[in-house]
Amino acid sequence: MSADKLSKVEKLYEGKAKVLYQSTDPSLLITFFKDDATAFNGQKKGSIGEKGVCNNSISSNIFMMLEAHGIKTHFVSKLSEREMVVKKVTIIPIEVVVRNKVAGSLAKRMGAPTGKELPEPLVELYYKDDSLGDPMINRGHAKAFNLATDQELEHIETEALKINKLLVEFFKGIGLDLVDYKLEFGRSPEGVLLADEISPDGCRLWDINSGEILDKDRFRKDLGKLTETYQEVNRRVSSMVK
Ligand code: C5P
Repeated sequence: MSADKLSKVEKLYEGKAKVLYQSTDPSLLITFFKDDATAFNGQKKGSIGEKGVCNNSISSNIFMMLEAHGIKTHFVSKLSEREMVVKKVTIIPIEVVVRNKVAGSLAKRMGAPTGKELPEPLVELYYKDDSLGDPMINRGHAKAFNLATDQELEHIETEALKINKLLVEFFKGIGLDLVDYKLEFGRSPEGVLLADEISPDGCRLWDINSGEILDKDRFRKDLGKLTETYQEVNRRVSSMVK
């Protein structure tokens, strides 16, 4: 079945920013991007007008760029303004954070100044469990608690560094400094695929010239211009791809 003829059959899961539906093709799901925004493990809630439209467009374009460079992702096609067709995967319950500069929880944990360049990209693993507040783990924890196999962990970390090179270059081309971001991977019959989304909801993006924050930290820190920020990132990403 062609992906653009698909329709939603059943709601499978509603997350903080997206709703996942089974589609008429058993191997494909439809992701619906909402405007809802949350921060601090759901303690702060709000809505950002047009966020869903922007994040769907930004993520679709970035997944296409990564696929064109040999990264295997769950992305199939953009179905509508707020909907994306993706391959059905079983999400590996590990959030992979890649950092190029110090910010956020790393600044706090290490007592280091925000903005400090790291000598090389840093890959961190967190156990994806909201009830525990997504604690940081290492490979040993991941193996001991059967979150992923050795082979999967090796693949995920190698892939994360490949993705980082591509993303840093891509964002640099549109005047954005990619400070850090979160990736998720999923198991599928084709192997482990990059899943979830890549958008200002899960990335720190700073304007290279002005240093202006162009990501969800504007919501976390009440900096205003929320819709405008997501639209600006979408405008820049679209200009690069089309
Ligand atoms: O909070 P922290 O500094 O560890 O976040 C690092 C990066 O990972 C940020 O870009 C943040 O947006 C992203 N992140 C995320 N979802 C989480 C935790 C972190 O998107 N649950």
